[in-house]
Amino acid sequence: MGEALLGIDIGTSACKALLIGRDGGVIAADTAAYPFDQPRPGWTEQDPALWVEGARKAVAGALAAAPGTTVLAVGLSGQMHGLTPLDGERKVLRKAILWNDQRNGAECEEITQAAGGLEALLAATGNRMLVGYTGGKILWMKRHEPDLFARLRHVLNPKDYLRLVLTGEIATEVSDASGTGLFDTRRRRWATGLIETLGIDPAILPPCHESHVVSGRVSHSGAELFGLPAGTPVVGGGGDSVIQTIGSGVIAPGELQTTIGTAGILAAALDAPIDSGDGRIQVFCNVSPATWHAMGVSLNAGGAMSWFREVLRGWGNEAFDFEEIVARAETAPPGARGLLFLPYLNGERCPHPDPAARGALVGLTARHGAGDLARAVMEGVVHAFYDMHGLMRAMGIPGHLVKASGGGARSLLWRQMQADLFGCDVVTCEGAAEGAAFGAALVAGVGAGVWPDATAAAATLRELARETPDPGATAIYRRAHDIYQALYPALHDSLAALGHPDLDP
Ligand code: XUL
Repeated sequence: MGEALLGIDIGTSACKALLIGRDGGVIAADTAAYPFDQPRPGWTEQDPALWVEGARKAVAGALAAAPGTTVLAVGLSGQMHGLTPLDGERKVLRKAILWNDQRNGAECEEITQAAGGLEALLAATGNRMLVGYTGGKILWMKRHEPDLFARLRHVLNPKDYLRLVLTGEIATEVSDASGTGLFDTRRRRWATGLIETLGIDPAILPPCHESHVVSGRVSHSGAELFGLPAGTPVVGGGGDSVIQTIGSGVIAPGELQTTIGTAGILAAALDAPIDSGDGRIQVFCNVSPATWHAMGVSLNAGGAMSWFREVLRGWGNEAFDFEEIVARAETAPPGARGLLFLPYLNGERCPHPDPAARGALVGLTARHGAGDLARAVMEGVVHAFYDMHGLMRAMGIPGHLVKASGGGARSLLWRQMQADLFGCDVVTCEGAAEGAAFGAALVAGVGAGVWPDATAAAATLRELARETPDPGATAIYRRAHDIYQALYPALHDSLAALGHPDLDP
């Protein structure tokens, strides 16, 4: 059998392993699911042992489906911003605190003040310290778990913990480092001055490389655990929401990527480190040298659909699945008869950095049925994308083509809603549904010399589907969008008040 590149993605709910050939075609893939914990409202944690076991199973499954394949190189990807704390023996000190954890609002504020205010922080890192970023979690641990903090020697992102197990190397790369909020994204190096100001020892952060650089080789123990030949090169890879833009073919400025996974991500490729304005749009290093990435993350996209499905199932219809919900949504007209859904079910990040934000269904009448509700939930996710693009437009980031990816890109209805609201074509490329593991495999190919750079790697992608906007629907959605945008400011105080522990213990 032939040669392949292996991408491994440590997701929030599963690990995916994917083998692609030298032509970029998918050879085999496998997925292994695992849970995460929610020990308190707004807290999310995960045992890193689950990532290792998930990766072991998924890699074994993918290799078993392609017997005799030689793996040329491995690329790693994963959920960003996770704090995986290790002691001096490189042992995990506590469960990892995940990207969607909302516990560290006070510490993020403290970091902003310590940096000298938002402007000074943006000058140091190019980004706000958003709730969920690793930087605030380190300070949270210092304040709330001082005994563990005293033993803290290494802080790793999830995929970089897998790198340690696979290769024995402690290392990261520029895209995931950007997501700590402690990285100078313009100069592509740790913001050491800021880190020291915060009383954090810069040595706890891993050495950082460009994403395609080989930062380790599969060790003997890694070989035994993962069934890969010892010595196989492992490239840096990238944070999931950054590296998957390559896998969706988003390379040129003007192209946007939407990803509907648990979260909803709107991303754009940049050829310069643009000023992020008030910092609500994240500007990170991209996985090719001298390229950057702008994105907004809405915390609930596919997550909102899962919530809706669970509500329906809780009402006794165990058979409800996504297809069924989408089929119901198709029976309702664009605009869901004047019904709007705010998808802030777990707080929100962009465009409203507000852990206390709550969701809402606004405009209900006795005429609304299940189909309208289903459609409103799906449209709410698309409104959240367009809301984020409003911030990007103000920063001078255009969008004349949307490339849809993630599990939600499989739904024609969801793609058409995007074409209609954005008023431009929406395409899906081969590999887009494979997500970040595909991007990781492409970047592994760059590291292994199969392609000269990520642009050449992405050029292998074929277009699979294209939706074009319907001007009538665009007019309806744009009108509804103006109302959608006005709702969060109007409801802000009421939503915060509803979250008071007397009302929602
Ligand atoms: C990006 C982000 C998410 C997680 C989810 O900023 O928070 O994409 O990486 O996997």
